[in-house]
Amino acid sequence: MGVLAVLILPLLVVGISGIVYIYRTVVHLMSKSAVRSKVVVITDALSGAGKGKVGKMMVHMKLSRLVMCSRREERWNCLEKHPQIHFGNPSGLETFTPKLVLLDLSDINCIQDVAKEILDCYGCVDILINNASMKVKGTVQNISLELDKKIMDANYFGPITLTKALIPNMISRRTGQVVLLNNIQGKLGVPFRAAYAASKHAALGFFDCLRAELQEFGVCVSTVTPSFICSYHVQPQPSNWEASVWKFFSRKLANGVHPVEVAEEILRTVSRKKQEVFLANPIAKAAVYIRTFFPELFFAVVAAGVKEKQKIVDDK
Ligand SMILES: NC(=O)c1ccc[n+]([C@@H]2O[C@H](COP(=O)([O-])OP(=O)(O)OC[C@H]3O[C@@H](n4cnc5c(N)ncnc54)[C@H](OP(=O)(O)O)[C@@H]3O)[C@@H](O)[C@H]2O)c1
Repeated sequence: MGVLAVLILPLLVVGISGIVYIYRTVVHLMSKSAVRSKVVVITDALSGAGKGKVGKMMVHMKLSRLVMCSRREERWNCLEKHPQIHFGNPSGLETFTPKLVLLDLSDINCIQDVAKEILDCYGCVDILINNASMKVKGTVQNISLELDKKIMDANYFGPITLTKALIPNMISRRTGQVVLLNNIQGKLGVPFRAAYAASKHAALGFFDCLRAELQEFGVCVSTVTPSFICSYHVQPQPSNWEASVWKFFSRKLANGVHPVEVAEEILRTVSRKKQEVFLANPIAKAAVYIRTFFPELFFAVVAAGVKEKQKIVDDK
């Protein structure tokens, strides 16, 4: 009885670890098969946090027919420069060379042509990942109306125009998935981010409505909302316990998630056809709940100290 009592805890730990390992392996394999041979379009694949996200996703995406969109042609050089974005074929499975497409989401009139170019190339689109977006920080008085409109074009009108151009193909085939990379600022407003938050609120509202409309056609709409994505450059090496500990604490301290984690979540979202994902630490999650249930408390907290910060933001 005494020996059994001593052994029960280690056995329990080993048992749970085994189950977690098997679960993660199955999820990993499911993520891979979810994109295999599929036509996947991703906007802004080669810069910002996208670089980190795509680097990770490539492990799976090289099995898909990937269309990478960027508004800068020179960014294509990234494919050669970044070792994580390679298209080797170690597993012997069929892999595809990505198609590179020039796309400026603010240039609304050109988006139809870009969609046509993609559809002419592959005949269909299975997954659209709306990742690109434009940020701006400043007081409402200091951001011009012209810039407000530019942000709205890049973060709202651009993604919805591309989505509208590609969904008829998904509807006619009764399959497909549209993913929106959103931001916690699409759920709550904080000072000095008015234009960005407005565009992200608008995008979230649009995709929430679209989800309901497309359900009967078998097309899934997903929104992935991280609170803060930390820098792509600080990437802990896998299978290194120090790095893992660092990753855990840095994530907690910076209140953000690493682009690689975002990539993994996007893959899980695609493979499980999740509708809404909120990637945030408990503080950010609490903020969203406080905004919903105790709005006056939330408004008081975000307004505190605005006067001092306003000067710093305006000086920048
Ligand atoms: N960073 C975060 O903390 C955070 C947190 C939550 C959610 N997110 C979301 O995650 C996604 C990626 O964020 P990120 O941090 O990678 O953003 P980022 O570093 O600012 O990069 C955004 C990219 O979008 C591209 N872009 C901007 N305007 C464009 C346009 N008109 N047409 C085509 N491409 C355009 C830019 O390309 P150029 O390089 O050519 O300018 C830029 O590289 C965004 O949707 C963002 O809202 C980010």
